[in-house]
Amino acid sequence: MQKIGIGLAGFGTVGAGVFLNLQRNRLLLAGRIGMELSVQKIVVRDPAKVRAITLPPELLAKSWRELIDDPDIQIICELMGGIDDPLELILAAIQAGKIVVTGNKALLAEHGREIFAAAMKYRVPVFFEAAAAGGVPIIMAIREAFIANHIRSMHGIINGTCNYILTQMTERGIGFQEALAEAQASGYAEADPTLDINGWDAAHKAIILASLAYGFWVGTEQIFVEGIEQITADDIRFARELGYRIKLLAIIKGDESSGIEVRVHPALIPATHVLASVHGVFNAVAVQGDVVGETLFYGRGAGQDPTASAVISDLASAALAIQAPRSHFGFTPHALYGRCKTIDEIVSQYYLRIPVLDKPGVLAQVAGVLGALNIGISSVIQPEGTEGEAVPLVLMIHDATNAQMQAALREIRALAAVKAEPRLIRVESFSS
Ligand SMILES: NC(=O)c1ccc[n+]([C@@H]2O[C@H](COP(=O)([O-])OP(=O)(O)OC[C@H]3O[C@@H](n4cnc5c(N)ncnc54)[C@H](OP(=O)(O)O)[C@@H]3O)[C@@H](O)[C@H]2O)c1
Repeated sequence: MQKIGIGLAGFGTVGAGVFLNLQRNRLLLAGRIGMELSVQKIVVRDPAKVRAITLPPELLAKSWRELIDDPDIQIICELMGGIDDPLELILAAIQAGKIVVTGNKALLAEHGREIFAAAMKYRVPVFFEAAAAGGVPIIMAIREAFIANHIRSMHGIINGTCNYILTQMTERGIGFQEALAEAQASGYAEADPTLDINGWDAAHKAIILASLAYGFWVGTEQIFVEGIEQITADDIRFARELGYRIKLLAIIKGDESSGIEVRVHPALIPATHVLASVHGVFNAVAVQGDVVGETLFYGRGAGQDPTASAVISDLASAALAIQAPRSHFGFTPHALYGRCKTIDEIVSQYYLRIPVLDKPGVLAQVAGVLGALNIGISSVIQPEGTEGEAVPLVLMIHDATNAQMQAALREIRALAAVKAEPRLIRVESFSS
């Protein structure tokens, strides 16, 4: 049986999981692809580290360059994380004609254009299933299963940490800080959770999904990103009263005439929508194609085994590409969609919570500001308060552009009755 040599760069959560599961399901994989996937060398940062999964000392390389130079290695599997070393490694692998498998979403979001230009130039495939939703096979679906479709929209819950925090806040009425501390204690949030809660981990994945769907590599500066840090228990409660749940949503939409939109932010979604039932650390992506219609992908977006499942699927595809070279190198640019809209152009509905002084006439003042800017109100909640004290005034706003809403916020902040910063959360109705 033909043996395919793999150089494994990284033996952390994912790398060790890949190594373990390659061993565990060795016979099954060999039976399915007719080749043996064999790890030839492994590189880590600290060889002396005590590890939960044993790293066979005979496989240990001194640096990643040894992986490139080894003639028995045909596939480089980059699972180191970070930017500089992985970029250097991946470009060197491509130039050396070695197929690349990576799960590095931050790297692809920032340097995808350059990596896939090199992949096409040297005709070397790059696989990256683990870089969007861990164990959920969304990359293969967009690239292969939906090749017949214009992707009209993708709505993704693609950060398990945020979804866990928002689920706890929704189910137990606790605040953001308490839910975050619990997520950290349960191992669902990193000690430094910044990239998760500020929306950028989901944004990296959204960039990869949008770029694949629309044929041009979307720049990090072209998208709108907002995290969940400002969501309060009150917002969750009001959303529920209005028939919604709050999720951190990646929203990707496109049509050939007006361009595409890519944004990641907390959003109110109807409680009846299927994505509202995605709880805890689970991920889900709803994809709408013009031919296939609506589809839904659901599963674990992170963790050792789910991510290893995606990486090993790529290793198998890479092995098959060695046997029968392919003309698709991971991402093929095309010019059908052209441009990414700015957030100011994007039309949305909104939830607006304004802490106001509880006195007669305040609602009329706010409605006056909105009306003058042609912004319609669809419903209002004004909880009873004690006259003279601040109470939250909650408005649901009809379709408006971000530019319109920002203009309204500037005027609303200036009203004497407004006692603190208003809170704007977008509402996704899934209508288009
Ligand atoms: N964790 C997940 O659930 C998940 C899901 C999807 C995608 N990913 C992506 O997969 C990649 C790996 O994530 P992970 O969670 O496995 O990370 P990790 O646990 O921190 O492991 C990183 C591994 O890479 C090694 N490493 C780091 N820098 C290196 C360098 N310059 N040279 C050689 N080795 C180096 C580390 O060595 P030491 O062991 O000696 O420190 C470690 O073995 C990341 O790009 C991540 O975004 C992760």
